[in-house]
Amino acid sequence: MIKLSKIVKIYDSPSGKVHALKGIDLNIAKGEIYGIIGLSGAGKSTLVRCINMLERPTSGNVIVDGQDMMKLSESELRDARKNIGMIFQHFNLLSSATVYDNIAFPLKLSNTSSANIAKKVEPLLELVGLKDKAKQYPAQLSGGQKQRVGIARALASDPKILLCDEATSALDPQTTKSILALIKDINKKFALTVVVITHEMQVIKEICDKVAVISDGIIAEKGSVLDVFTNPQHEITKEFISVLLSNDLPAAFRGNEISAEKVEGSLLLLRLNFLGDKADDPILAQMIRNCQGVECTMLFGNLDEIHGVPFGRFIVGLSGNESSIQDALNFLSNKEVRVEVIGYVRRNSSIAD
Ligand SMILES: Nc1ncnc2c1ncn2[C@@H]1O[C@H](COP(=O)(O)OP(=O)(O)O)[C@@H](O)[C@H]1O
Ligand SMILES: [Mg+2]
Repeated sequence: MIKLSKIVKIYDSPSGKVHALKGIDLNIAKGEIYGIIGLSGAGKSTLVRCINMLERPTSGNVIVDGQDMMKLSESELRDARKNIGMIFQHFNLLSSATVYDNIAFPLKLSNTSSANIAKKVEPLLELVGLKDKAKQYPAQLSGGQKQRVGIARALASDPKILLCDEATSALDPQTTKSILALIKDINKKFALTVVVITHEMQVIKEICDKVAVISDGIIAEKGSVLDVFTNPQHEITKEFISVLLSNDLPAAFRGNEISAEKVEGSLLLLRLNFLGDKADDPILAQMIRNCQGVECTMLFGNLDEIHGVPFGRFIVGLSGNESSIQDALNFLSNKEVRVEVIGYVRRNSSIAD
């Protein structure tokens, strides 16, 4: 549905040239919810605005729904943009127009009759849950309600694509959840292709199928949300994920030196990631049974879910003689569990028993 190839965007600013995008390749399939995550200034807004040509790339190709966007005339572009709705962090509503008129605005621009406008706006009000607010003005609405108006307005011209630029960044966590649920709902209902720009991994985890991590105008990594979450490659991705999945050591070990060698009184700490069916497999019990002399202490455990796939994260501490520990590591490496060896760490003496 969206194919970006070798997108470069250079801004001319008073202080010189800004290389906002440095060669971006991205394919987004029809009906997909594709997340783009990055820090402030990474180039996310520039990238998403290249999809509807609000920004014209300095070079590269933008194909949307089979059309080469770079080659369209102004009037062809206006038509093509009807296919692409957009919502924003600060909603961009007309403050002097009612909820109804805000939603009707794109239809009025294209000279739709008021009877046809009503046929379109009424069900949209219903869809976003604002039927009783039609005559109110934006100033009378909460942030979440304003974004619902934004969504209804974006859907008024029956787009095939919805671009969301930090659409939930100004909202509290509860409202964010409800707006994300609405976006997911319309994605399903209308087979809408959705591009979600965010700096929050929670947003990606909540609704996206795929994710691209953008850093300094380059895509650092991309893939299915499940793959990227369970096996992040790039440091910046790990940082984004660590907000959701703590990488801290358990309190009893925190601050102590981590050593590759066994130290008297230390445990070998392992971080284990289990995925899918394996998340509730008795792998650890089997390990203890199979590996004579190894003891396994559970230090941290968390079972989560990404798109209905169970995803378990554990930190365990192994003790025993070196050969039994090696047996245990060999055992785990033959199982479908991702093992990260943290190292030998001693318990804090104050907490130790
Ligand atoms: N109109 C502009 N003129 C000059 N520089 C810009 C312009 N828009 C964005 N930039 C610069 O391009 C880079 C990427 O910006 P942006 O795409 O807004 O990033 P993000 O949305 O990830 O925060 C930043 O360094 C920003 O300052
Ligand atoms: Mg931005």
